[in-house]
Amino acid sequence: MNNKENKKTSSVQGGEIFGDFTSSFEVDIQMFREDIEVSVAYSKMLFKIKIITEHEMKQINSALEEIKIEIENNNFLWNSDLEDIHLNIENALYNKIGEVAGKLHFGRSRNDQVATDTRLFFKRKITDIKKQIHVLLKVLLVLSEKNIEIIMPGYTHLQKGQPILLSQNLMSYFSIISRDLKRFENTFENTDVMPLGSGAFGGVSIPIDREFIANELGFNSLSKNSIDAVSSRDYILDLLFSCTSLMTNLSRICEELIIWNSEEFGYINLSDEFTTGSSIMPQKRNPDYLELIRGKTGGVVGQLMSLITTLKGLTFTYNRDLQEDRQGAMSSVITVTNTLEVLSTLLSRTTFNKEKMLDNAINSDVLATDFADYLAFKKTPFREAYQIIKKISDTLKNSNKYIHQLSLIELKKISPLFEKDVLEINLKSSIEKRNSLGGTSPDSVKAQILEGKKFLRTKENGK
Ligand code: ARG
Repeated sequence: MNNKENKKTSSVQGGEIFGDFTSSFEVDIQMFREDIEVSVAYSKMLFKIKIITEHEMKQINSALEEIKIEIENNNFLWNSDLEDIHLNIENALYNKIGEVAGKLHFGRSRNDQVATDTRLFFKRKITDIKKQIHVLLKVLLVLSEKNIEIIMPGYTHLQKGQPILLSQNLMSYFSIISRDLKRFENTFENTDVMPLGSGAFGGVSIPIDREFIANELGFNSLSKNSIDAVSSRDYILDLLFSCTSLMTNLSRICEELIIWNSEEFGYINLSDEFTTGSSIMPQKRNPDYLELIRGKTGGVVGQLMSLITTLKGLTFTYNRDLQEDRQGAMSSVITVTNTLEVLSTLLSRTTFNKEKMLDNAINSDVLATDFADYLAFKKTPFREAYQIIKKISDTLKNSNKYIHQLSLIELKKISPLFEKDVLEINLKSSIEKRNSLGGTSPDSVKAQILEGKKFLRTKENGK
């Protein structure tokens, strides 16, 4: 193979730094399998269209297989003078089989090659993430079912608002994360398009069989424009946005759990392996894992911003800036995968402090809305009913007493509309009454769980 054109001019112009500056192979190394698979499929196609002989195809493919094993076993000698893994693998192929290696690159450019490798690589990562989201959703269903009747105060502005079921809160996580799953499905679809056959950017002159290669590699469709195919990275933006959305949602869940884990709330007990002590304060059990998920979210958001910024000024067809397309997404994918595994396990080992939740609901005015509703059902305009109850609540402040603890006589003094049935207002009845679709009543939550199970079944175990 004539390597002259591929040699980095940097080694002529300057010291090591220039070589490192232009090189991508330390990042691309993660997708060596995909690079080899793409080459194997390509050589099969070249044989099919009679550009190479069967013998040459077999020579190329068995040498590529050897290279794959060498890389897997860490026996591959990377040549840092060659800018990327494509050139490294091509060079190794040349060293193994000589001139025949040079036939593999006919009708192919590293521009469509790298775009194909990257799509194949991220398709697999998205599949892994989807499976892990599936696991997390299952954990949430199990937890919701197990804790179906636990009552807790619901919060707005982090202030107690109305009583809810803990399971309703957990199912809100399910609802949010199932949207993220759909986002990843969509991202997969956008990624599942094969650019190979676009050449450098204008298509190729050989009678290439793109369908054949796509079939070999498991791509669902072919890119429709060669310029777009080598220069668009919006599928990576999609992936980064999906990662960002998921991490943001997981971070919010973690924030809630961190609050619930505080001594002041005391709603959850985290399993010991997910907390760490302080080096100076012996009593501490810090929720580091939850905090780290929240913290790592920043990095993923940053990677999305980074790629958008890289892309925004690029003309179409290939620009070398595009080499910076994958590092951030590769690291984000690792963060997301690790986060999902940690959070699923953490949640499945978390127990809930039922008494503390109930106690906090009882010792509050979370039933204020129900009292206002009561008066509104007795034909008081709701705004007026609201004012009446607000007044009671304000008066009771600092008295350690709550509206639902007032006697019928006390209530009647406030409004003659209060009758004996007002005493039926309690946490349980309040929750049961919120039976609107998606509401917090036990029936509604059970229906949500059933729907959730159906949803997961349609996802064929995350595949
Ligand atoms: N290392 C390059 C990348 O990762 C491969 C494509 C290079 N193409 C080129 N014309 N220099 O994007």
